[in-house]
Parts: sequence; structure tokens; C-alpha cells
Amino acid sequence: MSTSRSSLLEESDNWDFRDADTKEGTHVIHSYPAMMIPQVARGLIAHLRALKPDAQTLLDPFCGAGTVLVEAARQGLAPWGNDLNPLALRIARVRTTPIDERALQIALAALQAAVTPLALAGWRGEIPTFEGRDFWFKPEVSRALAFVLEQIRAMTHPDDRALAEMAFSETVRLVSNTRNGEFKLYRMSAEKLSQFHPDVLGLFLQTLARYVAGLQAFDADLRKAAVPTQIVQGDTRLLEGVPDQYFDLMVTSPPYGDSRTTVAYGQFSRLSLEWLGLPPEEARTVDRRLLGGTAPPEPALEPIPSAAVQAGLDAIAAQHPDRAREVESFYRDLDRAVCAITRTLKPGALCAWVVANRTVKRVVLPTNTIIAELSAVRGYSFIEDLTRNIPNKRMPLANSPSNVSGDTGATMTQEHMVILRYDGSRR
Ligand SMILES: C[S@@+](CC[C@H](N)C(=O)[O-])C[C@H]1O[C@@H](n2cnc3c(N)ncnc32)[C@H](O)[C@@H]1O
Repeated sequence: MSTSRSSLLEESDNWDFRDADTKEGTHVIHSYPAMMIPQVARGLIAHLRALKPDAQTLLDPFCGAGTVLVEAARQGLAPWGNDLNPLALRIARVRTTPIDERALQIALAALQAAVTPLALAGWRGEIPTFEGRDFWFKPEVSRALAFVLEQIRAMTHPDDRALAEMAFSETVRLVSNTRNGEFKLYRMSAEKLSQFHPDVLGLFLQTLARYVAGLQAFDADLRKAAVPTQIVQGDTRLLEGVPDQYFDLMVTSPPYGDSRTTVAYGQFSRLSLEWLGLPPEEARTVDRRLLGGTAPPEPALEPIPSAAVQAGLDAIAAQHPDRAREVESFYRDLDRAVCAITRTLKPGALCAWVVANRTVKRVVLPTNTIIAELSAVRGYSFIEDLTRNIPNKRMPLANSPSNVSGDTGATMTQEHMVILRYDGSRR
């Protein structure tokens, strides 16, 4: 597919955003794997709106931490998000909810007064148990976390509690025995662990203060949303609870492969979800439930309607048939997601898919072409494919522990933004 930089893009000529602040406003709230950068979300929404000035509603069916939703709200649209990961939904909700400044300050003052080393020293409450707790957390860390959680649960307003829970969740990541900065759960070396004595209360309060500043910075902007942001927990292959023929715009970055061999959203979220009290069957099964998480049924179903997928699968299968089946499962799910998304769009809706190509067993899978092909058979026309260089690579590289060895032969340094128009269903 050729890459065009049409005149439509004059307003945002350079999509690299080399030195951009990606943590401004509520985007500072909670880390999340493979986030879109706010500048890309903002630029794409503005770009689509220039093409469709009457657009009012926007869907991000793989909303993750809600980057697109925040930017859609700030541009006065009615944003809807969908994701399966309960942690993603909690982050997205907090990032898009304006605050009641006065009530929040009162609640925070009470929380700060309660979360002190002296109060912790005299605390005799219960420490929640879950499988692996003592492997991932030192006893004194678990005790301090349980203490903080109890103070948060005493907060009366649900929005204030949700905000504090996100600061708590980020703290869980920082104070766990996991190796820093990795999405998958790997334990620190014994030597590092022996010197690891995190200040749980201090980290929690500092994180919360950063989040509050982010919310204050975007509060007026978030109120511009045409209606409060709607966030649905659901499977994008079905999009239950998302209305039919409702959306003028769709902006999203889907996962670029299954969670086991690419980005492990579920592993990233698990310890936070356990601490936040989700049942184990929800906290531990996220990765299996995401796109490509389970193998397709035998015998194989109809071919996936993309020549690029078929060519890629054939090339992988020639050497590694099992691997080809796993990869097929992902693209079959992606195809189902395209179908479900189509149902929710108004004819004439504009879509932007932000994707990166993937290399499996040295076979390149051109996700930009694949998305355009899967969409073409469902009644979309191709408008353009914009590319951007990824300056501070937020996706896993060849040697990242997030990847299964041999799965990735090339680093991803470019992202594609595939722009499509839905013309109406072809039956
Ligand atoms: C690349 S991330 C999206 C990141 C988002 N743009 C952001 O800025 O935070 C892809 C998301 O797809 C979600 N996902 C994967 N499979 C899904 C499925 N079948 N249904 C719903 N969400 C799914 C993952 O949980 C993850 O949050």
C-alpha cells in the first residue's frame, strides 16, 4: 500500500512529535502498555473532523487507558470506549471524569491526614490474601498497601475513591518485587530484592498529587465533552452494549498480536487487580480473553478475507505450522472485531486505525494492509495511510522480554495510521 501525505494533512504535517510531553493533563494518570501518544490521538481526531465537520460521536473499541477518549472529550465530541481489561477501564474512567474541586480537596486532606507512618505503626487491620502475594510483595510492603487501601475505602465519593485507587494501583506496581519497567511479571534478582525497601506511603501520596494536578489541568477541557464519556467493558469481537449505527468517527490502536507473544496487558494488570479485590477468575484471565488468546476451532473456518494475512500465514506455516495457527487465531479475531465495529458506525463514518507491522518467524505481517483489506470487504473505502516514526519506542523491541524469543525479527520504528471511510454495508 502506498503511503500518501495528502493535502488533507497540512494541519499536522509531522506526526513524529519528537519532544512532545506525553504525560500532560490526565494522561499522567497510570501507566499502561502500548499507549497511543496524546498528540497522535489529538491530531487524528482533528484531522478526521476537518474531513467531517458535523461529526459528534466517536468510538474507541480498544480504548485501553483512554488516550483517545480524553482527546475526544477535549474536542467536544461524545466519546465511547470499550475494552476487556478491567484495569484499563478504571484508568480510562478516571482520566475522563471531571472533578468536583472543592469536595476533592476536602477528601484529599482527610486522606493525607490518615496516611501517616505513625498511623501505620499502630494499624491492626487485615491484609488481603491472594495466590502469590508473598512472592510478589515483601510482608511490610503488603501491610502498608493494605493500610492505604483501607483509608481509600473509607472515602465517601466514588469518583474520589476511583482516583485514589488508581494512585494505589500505580503504587502496587512500583513497590512489588517485579523488575521495573516490564509488562510481564518477572521477579527482581535476589541481590536487588535484599536492598529493596520502597516507601509505600510516600510513593502513594506523591502519585496521587501528580494525578490531582493532571485532573486540575484538564478539568475545564473534559467538561467540553458533549455527554459524559461512556465506557463499556466488553469484547470488541461482539461490542455488546455499544449502539448500532451511532458513530461518526472511530479512532483506535488495536493490539498488534496476541498477549502471550506480544504485549501482555493482563500480566501488566494482574497484581493491581488482585489488590483491588477482583475475583481471581477476572484478575488472572485477561490475556486469554483478548484477541488471539485462544486457538480457533478445528477444522479451520472460512479463509480470512485478506490476501496479506493468507500470504503471511502460508509463509509461517511452511516452517512452523503450530505458530501459524496461533497467528491465524489473532487475525480471525481481528476480522471479527472489524465486523462488530462496522455494525456501530453510521454510513459515511471515518475511521483511523493506528497500527504497527509485526514480524513472526521473520515473516512480516503488514497490519496496515491487513486492516484495509479486512475493511474493504465490509464496505469501506481507503482514504490514506499516514506513517510516523516512533521516536521513543513504546512498543516492545526484538530483545524485550515481552516477546517470545524468535517471534520478532525486526524492531518497530514506524507506525501507520490507516484512514478509511465506511460507505455502508455491502450485502
Ligand atoms: C494498544 S492497546 C490500546 C491502548 C490505548 N490506545 C491507549 O492509549 O491506552 C490495545 C487494547 O486492546 C484491548 N483488547 C485486546 N483484545 C480485546 C478484546 N477482544 N476486546 C476488548 N479489548 C481488547 C487490550 O486490553 C488493550 O487495552
